[in-house]
Amino acid sequence: MVDTTDTWIVERTGIRQRHIAEANVATSDLAVAAAREALRNRGIGAEDLDAIIVCTVTPDMLFPSTACLVQDQLGASRAWGFDLVAACSGFVYGLTVGSHLIAAGTHRQVLIIGADTMSRIIDYTDRSTCVLFGDGAGAFLLEATTEESVGFVGHRNEVDGSGGSFLQMPAGGSRLPASFATVQDRQHYVKQEGQQVFRFAVRKMLDLCENILKQHNFTPDDVDLFIPHQANQRIIAATAERMGFPAEKVMLNLEHYGNTTAATIPLATKDAVSAGRLKKGDLVLFAAVGAGFTAGVNLWRWAY
Ligand code: UT7
Repeated sequence: MVDTTDTWIVERTGIRQRHIAEANVATSDLAVAAAREALRNRGIGAEDLDAIIVCTVTPDMLFPSTACLVQDQLGASRAWGFDLVAACSGFVYGLTVGSHLIAAGTHRQVLIIGADTMSRIIDYTDRSTCVLFGDGAGAFLLEATTEESVGFVGHRNEVDGSGGSFLQMPAGGSRLPASFATVQDRQHYVKQEGQQVFRFAVRKMLDLCENILKQHNFTPDDVDLFIPHQANQRIIAATAERMGFPAEKVMLNLEHYGNTTAATIPLATKDAVSAGRLKKGDLVLFAAVGAGFTAGVNLWRWAY
């Protein structure tokens, strides 16, 4: 499709495979599948949910929100919900918001879904982006608990809107609504200045990881598993190296999925759980940087 090689892609990114949803499958379909699996694993019904947050930049449509479509499909009759737009940091922001809804005492069960069908907004004639992204979804069920040794520890989330132009989809909103010209100019696709994003990601991921550990009086040695957003192996390696995390403390699965935007962290967590790399009480550090620029880290004690 484009002038590239497997060697270039693997060496520069670490990605070997991407998954592309069937043409009739939209983000809500992936989100519902992930949600059902999370509910089944926990053994609760959709009617137990108080809220559903769908983190995505590829909603089925601008409105109704994908959260509404998911609520209906699941039959989550008591749940309210909304879409959270923070690109690759979406899931980390979602975890922060969900944990605070629970901490406020007003919610007991909050479903956080990271779901993106990136193939719908990728220009498959642009080699600088099309090799990077794939489709996927994953979900976490956050629950109220009286156990003090598990759960949310803390967060640091940031926005630097001055980086907005380096990773964006220019058209389709109120600034540049869809028109013949926007389609002709390929403005409904992801545009990225890779090096700008790369530099920010390396600097910010390290900065946030260092600071959240300091803030909570932990050292890198205390972290049991680092689960970063999966965009580029070199970004993850640079962060892990400077933090002093050995390979066994770093979750890496982007070779199998590519960058699935809001879905990378729940997909990586699921693979970590399947591989037996997480046990109750483990200190987990989630970190992401993405379009916006957005960035965030969450510290959790694994509860399950
Ligand atoms: O998840 C949201 C946040 N996004 C990210 O974190 C992505 C951050 N950025 C990156 O991961 C990297 O910048 C990329 C993987 C996107 C690009 O890697 P790079 O090492 O920064 O490459 P580059 O953009 O500096 O391009 C180097 C060369 C260029 O050729 P010249 O100008 O040196 O002749 C590109 O045209 O590589 C060329 N190139 C490619 N060559 C083969 C760009 N894409 C490709 C490709 N195949 N697919």
